[in-house]
Parts: sequence; structure tokens; C-alpha cells
Amino acid sequence: MNIISVSEVSKSFKIYKERAATLKERIVNGRKSKFEVYTALDSISLGIKKGETVGLIGRNGSGKSTLLKLLTGILYADKGSIDIEGKVSSLLELGAGFHPDFTGRENIFMNAAILGLSKKEIKAKLDQIISFSELKHYIENPVRSYSSGMYMRLAFSVAIMVEPDILLIDEVLAVGDAAFQQKCMDQLLRLKNKGTTIVFVSHDLGAVQKLCDRVIWINKSKVWGDGEPKKIIDQYLSYLSEQENERLIDENKDKENEITIIEKSEGQKNSVEETEGRWGNKQIEIIHVDITNENSISKLSFLSGEPMQIHISYKVNANIKKPVFGCAIHTIDNRHCYGTNTFIDHFKIDFLDENSFGKIIFNIPSIELIAGSYLLSVGASDPNGTQFDYHDKLYSFKVSSLVNDVGIARINHEWIHEVQRG
Ligand SMILES: Nc1ncnc2c1ncn2[C@@H]1O[C@H](COP(=O)(O)OP(=O)(O)OP(=O)(O)O)[C@@H](O)[C@H]1O
Ligand SMILES: [Mg+2]
Repeated sequence: MNIISVSEVSKSFKIYKERAATLKERIVNGRKSKFEVYTALDSISLGIKKGETVGLIGRNGSGKSTLLKLLTGILYADKGSIDIEGKVSSLLELGAGFHPDFTGRENIFMNAAILGLSKKEIKAKLDQIISFSELKHYIENPVRSYSSGMYMRLAFSVAIMVEPDILLIDEVLAVGDAAFQQKCMDQLLRLKNKGTTIVFVSHDLGAVQKLCDRVIWINKSKVWGDGEPKKIIDQYLSYLSEQENERLIDENKDKENEITIIEKSEGQKNSVEETEGRWGNKQIEIIHVDITNENSISKLSFLSGEPMQIHISYKVNANIKKPVFGCAIHTIDNRHCYGTNTFIDHFKIDFLDENSFGKIIFNIPSIELIAGSYLLSVGASDPNGTQFDYHDKLYSFKVSSLVNDVGIARINHEWIHEVQRG
């Protein structure tokens, strides 16, 4: 039996192309502002059962908040129907439902009354609400003086203390500090165990996976995925990664053009030309660098743990004994994550003939970096460190991750728990 039924619901917005005409302009010219119709939700159908905890994920502007607003009744659907059974409590945008000039205490009364509590019920819960929000010292101040986090604390405390049947939460938890976020998560898990139906919109996919037993992915106004959290989140992350990949490849095309232009202008062999981010005597010239997946297909956005390859194509301009090729990875804020070369790794290349071409591949079975943007340097040198061609942080790639670990690199690990009885 569905507690929330959404059937073929569509919602469009008018996006005005010009600034709104003044009243005078309208009267004098009889002019109407031009607008485009943007479909935020396009014939969406879904059913949510009593007691389900559903995560709603999707890119910015995909329609998640619009759907929650339709469920709360703040917006009306253009088409389709929505049926909800039970007491709904919602936490939408920050400050929604609060009156800025009223005190925290007055807002608790107003808010809880809107959510259907009688004055007596609210009085009975007041201390609990204030205590949970940890806003005792501010509760007589107008909420206009509250910080975003304080707003959220108050709204969250009211929303959960009314013990709703259905709780709708839109992304607001992110503004809470770490300690309060943990408290919120504990409360959400408590409500979940009690059988409250929860719809949770968040970009914190780790939190979504922890809390939810089902995930719905909205993309381009439609439902693109609905099912087991890990599966849908993985699909979504792969999609994001692909999209980011395309964007980065486009962005990098410009950079590649730049390098090609430099190469063309070099003319003479062995000339030592120093350019920003590139130096060396060019006895070995790195002519192309490609970051790819395990099948040698260009890729610039990876999920942590995916395979990655760095292809370094070179041209040899002199007879070279024992060349060394290397790679280094830095974070975007210039912290050195990792660096190695063929000499350190005892990978021997004895000799390269003048005028030959070749490629060296740095194969990473699993890129164990935390989420972030990285810069890649590659180089060819002789065994004494004289650079033939060094490309300093000329390439970039991204890593996204479901895990919120921090630091520079992911250390392979496991947790072991030993309980001592006595
Ligand atoms: N009141 C409005 N007027 C015009 N367009 C709107 C309005 N509300 C939402 N939209 C548009 O509808 C689309 C969906 O917006 P929505 O807020 O639902 O996205 P979202 O998935 O919640 O994104 P985010 O992750 O950024 O919160 C966006 O393109 C947005 O510009
Ligand atoms: Mg939103």
C-alpha cells in the first residue's frame, strides 16, 4: 500500500528572457515579457510505501526540490495527481516556514501548529525541541539574527519532534556542523526504525546510502533510476563521471592545441626551449600524453578504485642509453601525492634509437585516491636526472568517491574490533 502516490506528474516554469517590463512600459507599449517554458518534471510516476526511506538524488536543477515542493503542497502540479496519506512534516529550503521577526520560541509554536499540533501538545514538547536544537540562549531572539546552521537546527528540531508519519527533507542538513549532523542522522535512523516514511534529498551520497533503503535518481526531468541504493548511486556516479569526462576532454582540447603550437614553433631538433610548465633538451620528446581507462580509451574523470592508465608517447631525437620515464601526481593545491619512475621501479629500457617513436604506459590497476582534482606531470630523463622533456602538471583528471575519507591517498585498510569480556 503506497503512502505517497505520484502519478504522471508534470511541472513547468516560465523563465523570463528579459527583465520584467515596468508598469509604464507595459501600459505605453502594451508589451508582454518574453518567456520560455522549462519543464522541471515530465510525467513522473512513483509510489512510496509506508515505512520506506527513500533517497532522492540527481544533479543540480534536476527537479528534486520541485518534487518535494509538490509533495508538500507548496507548488501545484500542472498535470497528474499526487496522493499522500498521513501527517507530513517537511524541511525544505532554509528559513521556509519561519517568520524572521518572530523569536525562535514563537516560530516553534507557529511551525508546529502548521504541522498540526495543538497548543497543549506543543507546550509539552517545547523543552525537548529547544534542548535538541541547542539554541536555549538564542530562543528569545528573532530568527532573522540566526546563522544558517541555527535556522536549520530549529527547523529540524521542530520537524522531527512532531513525530510525523512522513518526513520530507531537502538538503538542509549540510549547513549543520559535524556534531549536529551526526545528531540529525541518529534521529533520522530512530524515526526510520519507528516506521516513519522518509524522503531524503541530498548530494551527500554516503549519507543517502547509510540512511535509505531505496534511491530514486532524477535526471533531466525524468526518473532515471529507482531501486537498491548502492546500485542506483553507482549508476549515478558513473553518469556524473562520464559527463565530467566529456567536459574535461573538451577543456583539455584547448591545452593540447597549445602544446602542438609550441612543438611546431620549435623547428630545429634538440633545441632547448623552456616554456611554462615544460622544459628539457628534447633528446626525447614527449609528443602526446593520454589519460585513459584500462581499454586505452581517453578518460579524465574516475571513480576512486577504478583502473587508470597514463600513455606517454615519445619521439627520440638522439641515440639514448638507459632512458628513464616518470610520472607524478599532485593535488590541485599542489600537494605531492605520488611520484615514481622506471628507474625506481627497476623497469629497464636499455637503448632508444634516434628517430624512433614509442609509447610507455603507466598502468594503475586501481586508482586509490580520495575525491578531488589532480594534476599529472610526466617526464623523460637520463639516469643522472638531466631532463629530456618534462611536462610539469600539464594534465589534470578528477576522482569522485562514495567514501568521505580525507587526506592525500587512500591507504589499504580494514577495521578489526576485539571485545574483551570480564
Ligand atoms: N520558481 C521557479 N521558477 C522558475 N524555474 C524554477 C523554479 N523552481 C525551479 N525552477 C527550475 O526547475 C529546475 C529544477 O529545479 P529544482 O530546484 O527542483 O532542482 P534540484 O534538483 O532541487 O537542484 P539542486 O540539487 O540544485 O537543489 C531548475 O532548472 C530550476 O531552474
Ligand atoms: Mg534542490
